[in-house]
This record gives sequence, C-alpha cells and structure tokens, in this order.
Amino acid sequence: PFVRREEYRPPEWLVPEIALDFDLGAERTQVRATLTVARNGDHAAPLKLDGEALKLISLTVDGAEADYNHEADELTVPIAGDRAVVETLVEIAPAANTQLMGLYESGGILCTQCEAEGFRRITFLPDRPDVLSRYRVKMTADKARYPVLLANGDPVGAGDLADGRHWAEWHDPFPKPSYLFALVAGDLVANRDSFATRSGKTVDLGIWVRDGDVERTRHAMAALKASMAWDEKVYGREYDLAVFNIVAVADFNFGAMENKGLNIFNSRYILADPDTATDADYDAVAGVVAHEYFHNWSGNRVTCRDWFQLSLKEGFTVFRDQQFSADQGSAAVKRIEDVRALRAAQFPEDSGPLAHPIRPESYIEISNFYTATIYNKGAEVIRMLHTILGPEKFRAGTDLYFDRHDGEAATCEDFVKAMEDAGGTDLALFRRWYSQAGTPRVRASLTHDAGAGRAHLTLAQQVPPTPGQPVKQPMPIPLKIALFGERSGDKLADRLVLLEGDEQEIVLDGVGERPVLSINRDFSAPVVVEAERSAADLAFLSANDDNPFARYEAMQQLMLDTLIAAAAGQTPDHRPVIEAVEQTLTNTDLDPAFVAEAVLLPSEAFVGDQMLVVDPEAIHRAREALRADLGTELEGLWRSAYSAHAANRFEYSPPAKGARRLRTVSLGYIAASGASDAPQMAKRQFDNADNMTDRQGALGILVNSDAPERAAALSAFYDRYRADGLVLDKWFAVQALSTRPDTPDAVAALAEHVDFTLANPNRLRALVGSFSVNQRAFHRANGQGYRFLADMILSVDKLNPQTAAKLVPALGRWRRFDEDRAEKMKGELQRIVATLGLSKDVFEQASKSLA
Ligand code: ARG
Ligand code: ZN
Repeated sequence: PFVRREEYRPPEWLVPEIALDFDLGAERTQVRATLTVARNGDHAAPLKLDGEALKLISLTVDGAEADYNHEADELTVPIAGDRAVVETLVEIAPAANTQLMGLYESGGILCTQCEAEGFRRITFLPDRPDVLSRYRVKMTADKARYPVLLANGDPVGAGDLADGRHWAEWHDPFPKPSYLFALVAGDLVANRDSFATRSGKTVDLGIWVRDGDVERTRHAMAALKASMAWDEKVYGREYDLAVFNIVAVADFNFGAMENKGLNIFNSRYILADPDTATDADYDAVAGVVAHEYFHNWSGNRVTCRDWFQLSLKEGFTVFRDQQFSADQGSAAVKRIEDVRALRAAQFPEDSGPLAHPIRPESYIEISNFYTATIYNKGAEVIRMLHTILGPEKFRAGTDLYFDRHDGEAATCEDFVKAMEDAGGTDLALFRRWYSQAGTPRVRASLTHDAGAGRAHLTLAQQVPPTPGQPVKQPMPIPLKIALFGERSGDKLADRLVLLEGDEQEIVLDGVGERPVLSINRDFSAPVVVEAERSAADLAFLSANDDNPFARYEAMQQLMLDTLIAAAAGQTPDHRPVIEAVEQTLTNTDLDPAFVAEAVLLPSEAFVGDQMLVVDPEAIHRAREALRADLGTELEGLWRSAYSAHAANRFEYSPPAKGARRLRTVSLGYIAASGASDAPQMAKRQFDNADNMTDRQGALGILVNSDAPERAAALSAFYDRYRADGLVLDKWFAVQALSTRPDTPDAVAALAEHVDFTLANPNRLRALVGSFSVNQRAFHRANGQGYRFLADMILSVDKLNPQTAAKLVPALGRWRRFDEDRAEKMKGELQRIVATLGLSKDVFEQASKSLA
C-alpha cells in the first residue's frame, strides 16, 4: 500500500477549467462538476478520477451519456479525443462526515477541508497537487440557515430564489490544485477591514465567525494586516486578489488551512480576548494567521508537485512565520520557544520508529506526514540556508524561486536550485538534509595553548541510523561559535563555522587567557552538541554570553546535567544551578520575558529523552527536588519578583507579557518551596486576574497541589466558562497535565465527563493529547495510561482516523523504557494493529511503531 517518491509520473490528464455547482444541505448535498479535461502527452490512457464516499448519480462526456468504470475509489472514463467536457453529478452527506475531511458540518456551518486528499470526498477529480485548475463555484442554499456563502477568489454574482433559497457564485482566476479549494456556508458575521497593498490595490478583508464572537477577532485582524505588510517588506510579496476571507470553525483536524483567498481556521487560532485567551494563545493566533497568509506565495502561487515535497511549502512557511513573530516582540524569546518546541516534538520523532527525512521516500497515508519533522525541522533547514547564504543572497534566492516557479507545482530540489543559482554557492552536500533522517550529533572539544595564544576546536559529527537508513553521510552543519575569556569575560572570537566532513579542526588565534566555548549560538543548526563543559563553564556562559539564546542554552545544559545525574541515582550538587538562577534573576539588564524562560527547568519528558532508559518516577523526583531547592533557597527573590511584576490592568504588549510570565514562574517556585501561603497566593491571583494568562497560570500551579484551593479554583473555572468550548479545553488540559500521582485516574474520570466528546479534535487533544505528554502520569507503572490511550485511539479511529493516528506516537516510545513498561506499551500497539477495520492512518503509525 506504499506510495513512493521515485514512482512519481506527470499526470496523464490535466483539468484546466472546473465549474462546480453545489446544492447545499447538511444531510444531503448535490455537487454537479463540469471538468474540462485535456490529455497531457502522447498516450492513449483513459481519464482516471479519484472519488471517495461519493454517490454517483450521473455522468456525461461532451453532453452525452458515456461508459465508465467505478471501482473502489476510482472512476475510469474512456475518452476518444484529446479534450472533453466531463460532467458528473454526485451526492454527499456533510452532517455524517465525522472525519472532517471534504465537506462537513461544524456547529451548523458547512465548511471544507481538502488538504491533502479531501477534495475526492466532494466530487470526482484527479486529486493531486500537480493538476492546476481555474475554478468557478456556484452555491445554492437555504437563506435562513446559510445566509453567507463563501468560496475561493472573488464574488461574481448572487441572488435570491423563490423558495427561501439563495445563491452565490465565486470565481478564482488563479489556477490551483484541488487541495486549495474551499467553500463555507453558514450564519456568520464578519469583522471587516481593508488593506492597501504597496502597489495601491485595496484588499477587502473579512474574518467570519459566529454572532457574538466578532469582538474576539480584533487581534487576528491586526495580525493579518501586519502579515500582509511584513511579506511585502521582507519578501517583496504582495497579495493578489481583491478579497481575503478567514472563517473560524470549532471542529477542525489541525490548526488552519491556506485555501486560496478563503483560509479556514480552527477557532482556537482566531478567537482571542483577555478574558479567554492567554498570552501564548495570542501569540499562536498571530503566528498561525501569518503562517496561512504567507502560504499565499509559499504554497499557493508556487505549490507542491507531489506530497513528498510537502516541506517545500511547510518548512519554508514555518520559517517565514517564525521570522515574522520574532519581528513582533522579543526575537530571543521566540527562538527559545521554537527550539523548545523542536526538541519536544521533533527530536523524539527523529530518534524513534517514525523517523523520516524532511522529504520522505514513501508513505501509506500522507496525513501521517504532517509532522514536526516536515514543519519544524523543515523550517530549521531553511534557516540554515539563510545562515549559510546570509540575508541578501537568501532573499535573492527566494525572489528567483518565486519568479521561476510562479503558477507551477514545484519540488524541494527547485527551491535548493534557486538558492544555489542566486547565492552562487554549491549546495550539493547540503541536499543531504533533505534525504537523511536523524538528528546529527556534534562533538566539540576545545584545547588551549596559552603560550601560543591559540585555541584548537575539534568538531566531529555523526548522523545516527534511522529506520531504513542504517548508514549516513556527513552533512554541512553551520555552527555559530564564540570564545569568551574566563578571566576577563571578553569575547575572544566569534564566527560561523561550516562543519562539512566527519571531522574538522579550527584554529583560533588571539586567545591568551583560558577560553570558554559558546557553540550553536542561536541554535544555528538542528543538532545535539556534546561539548564537555564543566558546571562552572556553563554557569559562566549563563551569566556572561552576549547571545541570549546561548545564555539560555548554557543554563538549560547545567540544569539538565544536574537532573540526569540525580535521576541516575547520584546526588549532584544543586548549588551551581541555584547560583546561576540567582545571577539571572538579579540581573536587572535582562528582559523579564527572557528571565522567565531561562529559570525554568527542562521538562520531565526532555530529561527522559536524554536518558538511555527513561525512569519517569526518578526524573520526577529529581526535578521536584531541584525545584524545591530553587524555591526555598531563592524564596526571597521569587517573592520580590512576584511583587515587582504586580498585575496591572491588562495590556497586550511585550513588556506586559514578560511581566506576567515572570510573575507566574515566580509563583510556581514559591509553591515549590512548600511555603504555606502559596495556595492562597495562587487562589488570590486566580480570583483577581483580569486576564486568562494570570488565571490559567494560577490554576496550573494549584492543580498540582493538595490544598483545598485546588478544587475551589477548578470548579469556579468550570462554572465561569462551561459554555465556552475553547476555555473548557483548558480546563481539561490543565488537569491532564497535573503532576499529582492520581492524574491517570482523574483523566479516566474526565473522559466520562458530560463535556468530553471524541467528535471534537480540540477537546480530544486537550484531554488525551495532554495526558500522553505528561510523562509521569502516562507512564504509570501499572500500564493504565497505555490501555487508556489505546482504547481512545480505537474509539476515535471509527470517527476520525487522522486525529486518532496523531495519538499513536506516544506508545511508539517503548524502546526507551524498562522492559516491563516496554512490554505493556508494545502489547497495546499489538492490540491496535490486530483490530479489525482499522484505518490505514492508524495502521501505518502503529505497525511502524512496532517494527
Ligand atoms: N496546510 C495546512 C497548514 O499548515 C495544514 C494542513 C494539514 N493537513 C493534514 N492533512 N494534516 O498550514
Ligand atoms: Zn502550513
């Protein structure tokens, strides 16, 4: 059942024009599709159309009844000439579509999701991204239920009909693949605005939501306008239609979708106001709005030839949205967040059974490849090109890429070639980043010759074996490095090193005093660096490095070394960590937002990822002990930080965000110290907060405690927000993330709660997704977490295979655990694989996890 990259063949038939006529209804929708098809090349093959779960009512070729063969998910139509007009009429049932792929219903709104292969669930078509068509779309629907009718492109006509129905027609002048098709019908209201492009065109903007939610779209609208201006300024990319619409829906399989001129969003990435959204939610809204908008060029104007090229649009677009967000506030904090996310989601993928290169070689179900590797490692690969070429050549490369391939379906190779041609740099070896999976490990050792005033840095790389790729070749790794004088604190060297072979030696002159090595500054390459640096050196860097990311990194490494030693049964000295945290906390030159990130301990899961055999309980104990010591030893400092960053009236600005962040982090340490007033402090913050960041922050601390304030806060939160789905998700998630020993039982009980449902992906991720990343709870030794997750996966698979498959990788980590846990995890995977009627989505993930 594998689809293979090397088996790519150009399409036999093209479809230059498509007219779609929808007679919309939730229970029953009829779709009349008129395809103008043209033979592509010199062959006699019949036309083949994809179609899934469609009821075919009629088919004609050039207006006449025609022969066809409808088997499985394919319709074969013999056609004599080189061109024809093929018309089909099909019937579909949106309200019964629980997969949320194709045309479905969400809260009374009819909407679509077509990427990657959802269009075939709407009508018959060659459903592949290298078939580009001009679409004309007519929708007819009941006017009371569906007063708003939207599709891609520009509106070209609308009118009322006699029977309480109405119609609208849209036309998209840009040829596009079917995965970018969209329509929405519903009772929606818009936040309307406009944007003047740099060439003087006016774009009408609309963010469409349910009545009552318009006020919560202000932030998204501001982000959209900022994105449009940013893409003109930084990439020279201007918007190309007169209309840009966004629609928010509550049921959505992932974050959002970049359909041409009609983005459709998971409402959690649109709706934000101080009472219901945290600062992190605000940032995510802006980041996803920017991401989808940027796809208009990196994805839509230049699209992907086939799904193996997915990172062509996703890696590049994630890089673009990261740059955008870095420009809106603290670039250092943004980089820390992005690297933390990469390490939490992508590194485990790259070292586990589902490891794949950013350009995979094969798949069973393409939905399984919307991964942290394709998106986030893909973005790191683009970032390395940016670092190696420098900003000017990189921009010349993107200009050339957009110029050369505008209107085309391109490949990753096309992108690299454009960079190569514009940058005048040979990227032959760099291409290995596209074909090799696995996180490279770089060993760095520094020796110093004081007499000669010279340091020698030896770098050696090794790319670990991954499934199907036992032997790897070295890859070009750009490493920003610096040396600091231990005595003077002066920067003695600062440069970019490109490690190309297995090993390389760099000589650095002008190094009279003992140097301390700062390496992979800004996280210039997505690698693991092993540089044996003492606790003293790491503490020195955490206080003196002039690169904020490197400073954060040194602190993390210091904390990590301490936690790993403790989890392995040693009794490491906590003093160096405590002193380094103290230094950072008392350094008034630092941005509070940065301080808040720097003083946080690495997560239990991240500590586990560094160990050969993960011992969840030992890691938990080690981390709690260090947290308690930090809390107790520095209690006075935490308390002053807490009051120094006292809550003022809510404002969404980088300084106000930083203050809120540091305040809640401080409260967390006060609680960790065991101070008896901590629960009351948290409850006071919870009660008095005028924003969700402070309220959720306090709840996240209380939820780990045994104090009576815990239950009081949880029930107050529930009572206040029970009608707001997005906030209720937080209520489920915060409990699933609790560090308390009874969390597995609490989660099982929550799965029976009236407000829990398998049908809504956000709710499922809030409870089950959160639980599966709560290392201690999920890996409770009796295996109940594994059984619970497997049961959930099997239940969800019947409704929504894509979303079910996303839950499988947590069980795939079994190789990293003791034999008893590993057996239990494997047992659940085997139970899943043996289940009759399993989707190919879950089958692929579970069977590969066992292999
Ligand atoms: N292209 C969309 C986005 O990034 C995501 C589509 C995800 N599709 C899927 N089948 N998982 O930005
Ligand atoms: Zn994307």
